[in-house]
Amino acid sequence: MHEPVMVAEALEHLAPARGGLFVDCTVGYGGHTHALLDAGATRVIGFDRDQDALAHAGRTLAEHESRVDLVHSDYRRLNEVLDARGVTAVDGLLADLGVSSMQLDEPGRGFSFRRDDPLDMRMDRTSGPTAAEAIRDADERTLADVIYEFGEERHSRRVARALVDARTRGAVETTGQLADIVRRAIPRKGYSRIDPATRTFQALRIWVNRELEGLDAFLHGAASRLAPGGRMVVITFHSLEDRIVKHTLRAIQSEGTSGLTVRTKRPMVPTEAEVDRNPRARSAKLRAAERHTAE
Ligand SMILES: C[S@@+](CC[C@H](N)C(=O)[O-])C[C@H]1O[C@@H](n2cnc3c(N)ncnc32)[C@H](O)[C@@H]1O
Repeated sequence: MHEPVMVAEALEHLAPARGGLFVDCTVGYGGHTHALLDAGATRVIGFDRDQDALAHAGRTLAEHESRVDLVHSDYRRLNEVLDARGVTAVDGLLADLGVSSMQLDEPGRGFSFRRDDPLDMRMDRTSGPTAAEAIRDADERTLADVIYEFGEERHSRRVARALVDARTRGAVETTGQLADIVRRAIPRKGYSRIDPATRTFQALRIWVNRELEGLDAFLHGAASRLAPGGRMVVITFHSLEDRIVKHTLRAIQSEGTSGLTVRTKRPMVPTEAEVDRNPRARSAKLRAAERHTAE
């Protein structure tokens, strides 16, 4: 079962007991939205680019149906979606980035090398090329750059070469094929706790979903939508994303135009008890910011 990450910490910063309008930019299966509504948020607008996730969230949130507005959209279209609803300011905003554990586990999605599935990897299956198509169409240099940049894989060139070689023998169409190609391309030195395919899978997922693109512009837009006293919380799961969030929140604070103050000097991390209960929480980092109340 999917368990939302760092709920107590997110609620501590978002303070939904004040009531008001909240945006959950990554509603997923509805865990955080449910907690916000239970804790006093008046209404939540919930975004997700994955229609299956939204259908599930609809069921999870059925008891609060009249207070939730679920939107199939990329959160990078936040301003457009709020404008269309006549919303100028929100009291709180949450973004719990990345893929959900249910997306990872769900058969047929192609995110995980733990099962053999068609190599899709799109969070939004209504648009964009699949990972198989992206691998088929990219040149070797692009593949190497993607695997290096988004996977921080030292052997990115070898992996890219192996993918291009494999392509000459037939399409790379399943997670099983991809995992085999990567594992064979990476030199084994002793025992490693993590599967050598992990970094390449992460890289391709970030690339296919353009996960880092426009994250800074989204955070600027989000900050400018906060009502005075409004709060925002961002939870990340890998260092590339956390770095962007940290630098962008600091930059917005220094610019001074949105009146934003960062509330977390260092990121909050889950408690040991949470990680014991839910090992997927282990890499989570939470950062929060607040817009000053009007002078
Ligand atoms: C970590 S999960 C969120 C889980 C959620 N907080 C919960 O309690 O169930 C991230 C979700 O964000 C969605 N997502 C990722 N990037 C997105 C984007 N750019 N726009 C909209 N949704 C996105 C994914 O489809 C996924 O469902």
